[in-house]
Parts: sequence; structure tokens; C-alpha cells
Amino acid sequence: MRKTVLDFYKMKQEKEKITMLTAYDYVSARLVDEAGTDIILVGDSLGMVMLGYQDTLSVTMEDMIRHCQAVARGAKTAFLVGDMPFLSFSVSVEKAVENAGRFIREGHMQAVKLEGGRERKAAIEAILDAGIAVMGHLGLTPQYIHRFGGFKVQGKTQEAAKRILEDAKLLADLGVFSIVLESVPWQLAKKITESVDVPTIGIGAGPYCDGQVLVFHDVLGLFPGFKPRFVKQYGQFYAPMLDALKKYNEEVKKSLFPTIEEHSYSSE
Ligand code: KIV
Repeated sequence: MRKTVLDFYKMKQEKEKITMLTAYDYVSARLVDEAGTDIILVGDSLGMVMLGYQDTLSVTMEDMIRHCQAVARGAKTAFLVGDMPFLSFSVSVEKAVENAGRFIREGHMQAVKLEGGRERKAAIEAILDAGIAVMGHLGLTPQYIHRFGGFKVQGKTQEAAKRILEDAKLLADLGVFSIVLESVPWQLAKKITESVDVPTIGIGAGPYCDGQVLVFHDVLGLFPGFKPRFVKQYGQFYAPMLDALKKYNEEVKKSLFPTIEEHSYSSE
């Protein structure tokens, strides 16, 4: 049975932690789903980890829909959330609803996530009115990096923390089913988690959130030499993958692969 938003409200009440991971294609979705993850996020981080951009700002609706479709084919039980890319929900409320609808109709997602607080009130209300479940995203919202001056921890001053807490309460009142808190001090994440009825999902927000999210490539150690403080690598798979590919190249060059006995068809 596929998870629903009701499961996540119940998990918050019963203090059962919620797990979320990103996935971007059929294989990663199968792996994350089979591992028993509660929520799969098709994050716009795909711009960085799949497409090689420096940030998420170049990701388009078409990129997102294509990857959502692949993930939907690979995942059977996880709740699926599609990440609305830069400018897909801020140009007009009508466009926001239309694009959110595409995630559901064409991308086969169960919900959308969008970055921002009070400044996105109208868009969030309209998307919710259209019957679409929304996940909020506060703190370090990567689509605002040029306003923030880079990928920087948010909510460190009393004033900034107050604003994020107010935004979280506003989003919860509007009716989002959960809120991602990214790169904020753990004390602020704890306070928000205790102040809102909807589950909080943390990334770089400490242990007191109702759930945690990490990026697929970070969890599996697919980027050698880059590990932000908040990431825990549960494997380091870049090196073994590289070794396997080198071995293939070597064996073909030396005519060790394919063999007639194991890998070839015979006419008789
Ligand atoms: O795009 C993404 O992967 C995200 C998560 C890091 C929350 O927004």
C-alpha cells in the first residue's frame, strides 16, 4: 500500500520518525523504495547531482516532469513528492497551480514541494485549493542563494529565527502537510517542530525534527571529496564503481572479455 499524508500526521503524533530520500530515475527510485523509505522527493537538486549544474536555478519544468515520471515507474510504496523548480510558482498564481497540476497529472506525483514562506502564501493557498498536497520548505532555500549570498545556514540571529518560526506557523495554518527545514540551527528546528501540528523534515537541522531527508548521491558517497557537515555517508560507492569500470576497460583491451564459453552465442 502506498503511504499517504495521513500516515505522516499519525507518525508525528506517535513520535515515529519519517524518512525521506531523493531519487531521480527508475533505478534510484527502486532502491530507495525497496529500502522502505517513507517519502521519495524528486528534488530540483537533480540539477546539480544529475545534470552537473552549480546550483538548482537552471532546472526546468520539463526536466522535473521527465525525472518524476521515471521515479513513479520505479517506486511502489513511498509517497512521491515533486519539487517545483525556480520560477515555476512565483510568476503568477495561475501558473503555479498549472505547474503543480503537471506534477500530479504528468509526473504521477502525490504532492509538490515549494520553497518559501509568507511571500508564497497566495500560490500555496491556490495550489491547496486545487486539491494538491503541498510540502513547504524553509531555512536555506537553495533557489534564493543569490539573495542569501551562497549556501549559508539560515535563522542564526533572533530576528531571522523569529521570521522562520512565523513562516512555519503560517504554512501549517494554510494546510501544508509537512515542512522541510534546511540548514537551520537545531534549537530553531526543535522549536518549530514543537510549535506546528504538521511534521517537520530536517536536512542540516539537527535531530529533533519529525523526519530527516538526504540526497541520494550524498548518502551513497557518489561525490568524492565533497561532504557537507550535515551529511552522513552510509556507503562510499564512487571508488568501487570506478574500479569496476576500469576493470571492464582493461579486460576488453586485453581481450579477456567477452569469452566464448561464458558470454557468446554459438551458431550450433
Ligand atoms: O532538491 C532537493 O533535493 C531538496 C532537498 C535537499 C530537501 O530540496
